[in-house]
Amino acid sequence: MKNAIVTGATSGIGAAICQRLLEGGWQVYGIGRDFTGQQFSSESGFHTVTCDLKKHKDTQYAAERIVKEAGDISLLVNCAGVGYFGPHEQISPDKLHEMVAVNIEAPMILSGKLLRGMKRDGGTIINISSVTAKKSNTHGCAYGATKAALTSFGDSLFEEARKYGVRVVNIHPDMTASHFYRNADFRECDEEDARLLPEEVAACVMEVLCVRAGAVITDVTIKPQRHGIQRKGIKPKEEKNDT
Ligand SMILES: NC(=O)c1ccc[n+]([C@@H]2O[C@H](COP(=O)([O-])OP(=O)(O)OC[C@H]3O[C@@H](n4cnc5c(N)ncnc54)[C@H](OP(=O)(O)O)[C@@H]3O)[C@@H](O)[C@H]2O)c1
Repeated sequence: MKNAIVTGATSGIGAAICQRLLEGGWQVYGIGRDFTGQQFSSESGFHTVTCDLKKHKDTQYAAERIVKEAGDISLLVNCAGVGYFGPHEQISPDKLHEMVAVNIEAPMILSGKLLRGMKRDGGTIINISSVTAKKSNTHGCAYGATKAALTSFGDSLFEEARKYGVRVVNIHPDMTASHFYRNADFRECDEEDARLLPEEVAACVMEVLCVRAGAVITDVTIKPQRHGIQRKGIKPKEEKNDT
């Protein structure tokens, strides 16, 4: 039985990843806070795990509960994420805490809880980072910093654990159509060559999982052909991407 944990399972990229894994016969333990309206049934192999990843004790407890129920977990996808954007002085300490807790602390905690089993039996950790990890981000300084930290964590964890058969992969998507920009005054473009779909990021996950044992794709970047963002309430135009 192939068991996976996917955070951010309730929406967007995480939900698309769950869909592909379920189609591939995985048992998926999906973590999120609000499963209202999510489409996966327990018959399909989906297990709902309600947890607020802002709370590190809840995160630890969720991981322990899943391992107790499932036994071996061979895949962890750290996909849950939150972004607040704007001049840095306008981002409150509560929002900073939320981004750090969800975007980097939770992946570190969950990875730590699963690594003993993965070092024993092999396994894969996939971090859904962001193109923001690799560049400077005006009006997204803190969000970009959490993604740079996630990528750095993944890179180092691979070096630490590779000799035990653990694969660690950082995936860096550019702007993807989801609810992610609900807190921003901009969003992804509607044109299909200027934004990604969650299913396209999920396809990267499946590609990474198909690589033969003994080889590892450690880093993936996926971008739409054209670069652009759409200011909410204003006509779309091509401009520098702040996210
Ligand atoms: N969309 C983009 O343009 C884009 C680009 C690059 C990278 N990314 C990354 O892709 C990942 C997924 O984003 P998305 O685009 O799919 O956005 P989304 O639709 O907003 O999904 C975010 C997910 O994170 C979960 N989440 C947020 N806060 C949480 C918390 N405190 N506890 C538990 N779960 C929490 C949400 O679940 P609940 O609300 O149910 O808790 C939801 O399932 C994020 O890490 C994001 O940084 C997105």
